[in-house]
Amino acid sequence: MRVLVTGGAGYIGSHTVIQLVAAGHDVLIVDNFSNAKPAVVHRLESITGVKLPVHAFDLRDADRTEHLFAHEQIDAVIHFAGLKAVGESMEQPLAYYENNLGSTFSLVRAMARHDITKLVFSSSATVYGHNAPVPMKEDFPTSATNPYGWTKVMVEQILRDVAVAQPRWRIALLRYFNPVGAHPSGTIGEDPSGIPNNLVPYISQVAVGRREKLRIFGDDYSTPDGTAVRDYIHVEDLAAGHVAALARLASTDRAVSTWNLGTGTGSSVFDVLHAFERAVGHDLPYEVVGRRAGDIAASYADPGRANEQLGWTATRSLDNMCADAWRWQSQNPDGYPDA
Ligand code: NAD
Ligand code: UD1
Repeated sequence: MRVLVTGGAGYIGSHTVIQLVAAGHDVLIVDNFSNAKPAVVHRLESITGVKLPVHAFDLRDADRTEHLFAHEQIDAVIHFAGLKAVGESMEQPLAYYENNLGSTFSLVRAMARHDITKLVFSSSATVYGHNAPVPMKEDFPTSATNPYGWTKVMVEQILRDVAVAQPRWRIALLRYFNPVGAHPSGTIGEDPSGIPNNLVPYISQVAVGRREKLRIFGDDYSTPDGTAVRDYIHVEDLAAGHVAALARLASTDRAVSTWNLGTGTGSSVFDVLHAFERAVGHDLPYEVVGRRAGDIAASYADPGRANEQLGWTATRSLDNMCADAWRWQSQNPDGYPDA
């Protein structure tokens, strides 16, 4: 298939592009580089051995989006493009609603106009809200606690409504748990701008000497060691989930399919820290501080539906995730180069 990957220069998109090409797909990318560097594209081309057409524009630009669909043959779309920082979304709610909803509107309109009806959307476990029991299942009610999370709840609903109106659409809502790790080459990885919000990028920067110590947000949760528990999934396993979802859309009768992409295993902050220490080969400095507002004690997936319906299972261990994250960070201490 010829697959348009929106946000294909970003963290999860870039890893997915590699696996799409390996699976025999033709890939084109749209990215406005608001949270990515052009250097990633050269690295993707050297790993895949193919030239990747990149269209650098903002998907909210409906004319450019329409122009792209009018001039390129496209069979399916994987829609990663969006803003993703929870704290920033609370400071700039309008920017988040405008970007994450606006990009989806112009994309889906252009797809409908050109009769392209296969869409894979990047949703998040954040749609399970604050009080969901674990493991989390796809049929749980959805809600959110911040504007970023609401954009995911809303886009899911918008896409369900599109599928009701136009039942020939085939839409996958993929709810990611906590993606971490990097491509095993160490040349593609996560490159957050500014101070990392997420655990593994923060530990990586402590390990490489860019940050003094990890601050652990709370050790008084009702979890085995008191620190919060999450379902960390290797970005390579996550990328494989997209390739599997795309294949499944070609054969399913369901207009909308919702799949959790997680391992089903919860790991605590200390579990992650210790796995990272094993990857680095020495202890890392940390301090336990108060809980972070908005955090929940435990989040992990029931991945049974994706295992069964997609024939997909996450296989990589936490040690593997940390080893690959460390290879990326140690080879690229400052992330991707600017030029
Ligand atoms: P990322 O920021 O690395 O990638 C997103 C890409 O989209 C970036 O390259 C950015 O430049 C681009 N982009 C943003 N707005 C755009 C627009 N209007 N037009 C064109 N390009 C635009 O993020 P990621 O971690 O790769 O996440 C990809 C998707 O998965 C996002 O939708 C995110 O919300 C979702 N998600 C991520 C996580 C996570 O932990 N990383 C978890 C759950 C869901
Ligand atoms: C966060 C977002 C979530 C988003 C996900 C992926 C919040 C409240 N949630 O999830 O909506 O989908 O990222 O982008 O921001 N931790 C520390 N010290 C740190 C960083 C994190 O102790 O410096 C802890 C956190 O308290 C949490 C765990 O590590 O218990 C994982 O944190 P993080 O990587 O930010 O992911 P989530 O909070 O699960």
